Amino acid sequence: FKRLYRLHYCSSRRASAKNVVVEAETSVKKDHCETGGKKSFYDLLEERGEQAARSLLISCPSNTCEKKFLKHMSTHGDINKYFFYESFGTYAVVEFAKKEGVFSVLERASLPHLQHEAAVPFKSRLLSLKTDKLGDVPNSQKSIKFLNQTSMPVNDLIKKLSKEDSIDQQLYSLTEAYQLTEENIRLRFLVCSLLKDIAASYFPECSIKPFGSSVNGFGKLGCDLDMFLDLDGISEAAPKQVRAYSLEYQLKRTSTERAATQSILSVIGECVDQFGPGCVGMQKILNARCPLVRFSHQPSGFQCDLTANNRVAMKSSELLYLYGQLDERVRALVFSVRCWARVQGITSNIPGAWLTNFTITVMVIFFLQKRSPPMIPILDHLQKLAGPMDKSTIDGNDCTFVSDLTKVKVQNNTETLEHLLPEFFEFYGNFDFNKLSINIRKGKEQTKTEASPLHIQNPFEQSLNVSRNVNATQLQRFVLLCQESAWLVQQNEVARRSSATGNTPWGLAALLVPLAAATKGKKRGTQTPASRIKGLLESLKSSKSQASNNGIKA
Ligand code: CTP
Ligand code: MG
Repeated sequence: FKRLYRLHYCSSRRASAKNVVVEAETSVKKDHCETGGKKSFYDLLEERGEQAARSLLISCPSNTCEKKFLKHMSTHGDINKYFFYESFGTYAVVEFAKKEGVFSVLERASLPHLQHEAAVPFKSRLLSLKTDKLGDVPNSQKSIKFLNQTSMPVNDLIKKLSKEDSIDQQLYSLTEAYQLTEENIRLRFLVCSLLKDIAASYFPECSIKPFGSSVNGFGKLGCDLDMFLDLDGISEAAPKQVRAYSLEYQLKRTSTERAATQSILSVIGECVDQFGPGCVGMQKILNARCPLVRFSHQPSGFQCDLTANNRVAMKSSELLYLYGQLDERVRALVFSVRCWARVQGITSNIPGAWLTNFTITVMVIFFLQKRSPPMIPILDHLQKLAGPMDKSTIDGNDCTFVSDLTKVKVQNNTETLEHLLPEFFEFYGNFDFNKLSINIRKGKEQTKTEASPLHIQNPFEQSLNVSRNVNATQLQRFVLLCQESAWLVQQNEVARRSSATGNTPWGLAALLVPLAAATKGKKRGTQTPASRIKGLLESLKSSKSQASNNGIKA
C-alpha cells in the first residue's frame, strides 16, 4: 500500500484551482497478487486509518457539477483522492492531503436552519453540499462517474464466468468481481473514523478499527462492517518512575471486564444512536458472548456491528489476511466456495444454525493445509516464525504468530484451482464430522471432544468451537451439496466449456446454479448425467426468473 499509483482516469477532470488534485491510487488487487513488498496487517490498518482521518463524507445534490465541486473543495487544501457513489442519494468521499484541509472545510461549514424540526448540534465530518452558491448546472449529473458499492447479481456472474476459458480463470474472475474495491475499503475506514469522533468525546485516545471481512482480504462488496472500539491506547501510560509521590487516575470500577465492556458499548451505542447523523436502527445486543451494538450507517449503506474488548477477533482477522496474502489461490478458492455456499443456501444473511462465511473460510484454510505438499503453513509454524515484536497474549491465550509476510517461505504446491475445487468438495463430502474436529493450528483432524455436529477449534481461544451454532441438518446439507458438487463438476458437460454456445453455464458457473435435487435430499445416481445436466440448465432458467423477481443477490 505504500506505493502510490498515479491514476489517469480522472486526470482530465482535475480542478483548475490553486490547489491541485493528486489522484493517489493504491491497488488492492495488485497488492493481493504481488509477491514482494507486502504490508503487514497493522501497517495496513494504520495507513488506512490515517487516510480516513483526512477524509470527509459529503451528501451532494444529484445535479452537482463535479468540476465546480472539486474546485470548491480544493480551495480548502490539496485533495489526494475523491470519488462519488450512490446510496439513497449521491455522496462524495474527499480525502485531503493534510488534516488542515478538513479543518478548513469544517470551520466554514454552516449549521442547517430548520423550520419545523429541531436538531442535535453535533458537528461531524458528514456534511451536505449546498449548491446555491456554486450555481447549479442542469443535467450536469452525467459528468459524475459513480463507483459501484454493491456486488454483481449472481445471474450476471454466471454469464460472466461462462465466458471464461478455464476453471482457474473463473475462480479469479469471481474474486475480482466480488472483492471489495479500493473505494469501498476507504469508505469502510471512513465510517470507522466518523464513529471514532463520537466515541472520542469520552475516550479521546480510543480508536475504532475494522475487523472481519472488511480487512481480512475475503470481504465481498456489501458485507457487513465489523468494528472494534479499542481502548488499549489509554492504558499505555508513561513508564512509572520511582519517586516519593506519584499520582494515578481514579477510575469507575466494575465487577468484571465484561460488565465494563457492556456499559461502554451501551453508552457509546446510545450516543451513536442519538447524535450520529446517518446512524439508524440501533440494537444493543449486550448479552451475547461478545457484546455488540448493531446499526445501519445510511450514507454508506453499511450494516455495522460495533464491539469492544474484542482483540482476539482482530488477531483472527490478521491471520486470515496473512493466509490470503501468501498465495493468490487461497482468496480465489475462498471467494468461490463462499459464493457457492450462499447460492446453495448453506450460508445466510440471517443469523441461525447455518454455516457462516468465517466457518467456511477456516474450512478452506484447513483443506489447503492438508494438501500434499501443503499450500499454506499451519498456525503452529507461523508461531515459530514470530519475532519478538509479534508476541501477543490476549486474555491468557497465546496469539503470537509472524506478522512479516516475507518471513513465510513460499510452499511448493503447484495444484491448479481446477483441480483443487472438486478436491475441496470431495474432502468435505467424505469428512468424518461425527468423530473429527478441524484444527488449523495443528493442520490435523483431532478427535472430537464435544457433541456439536460440526467442531472447528477457534485458532486462538482453543476451548471455543467456531461453528457451535451449526446444527446437524445444516451440516448434512453442506455434506450432501459437497458430494453433489464434486460429482457435477467432474461431468464432461460441466467440466469443459461447450464450444457450441459460450453462454451455457459450465465449470464454476454451473455450480452457482441452485442444486434443487440435493436440497430436497435426493441422492445422486438416481438420474443419468444427461438428465442431471438438463435439470441443472432448467433450474438456471427458473432461478434466473426467480432472482430477477426477488432481486436476489448471492
Ligand atoms: N469471529 C470469530 N469467531 C466466530 C465468529 C466470528 O472469531 N465464531 C470473528 C472472525 O475474526 C470474523 C469476525 O469475527 O472474521 C467477524 O465475524 P463475521 O462478521 O461473522 O464474519 P466475517 O469474516 O466478517 O464474514 P462476513 O463477510 O460474513 O461478515
Ligand atoms: Mg463480517
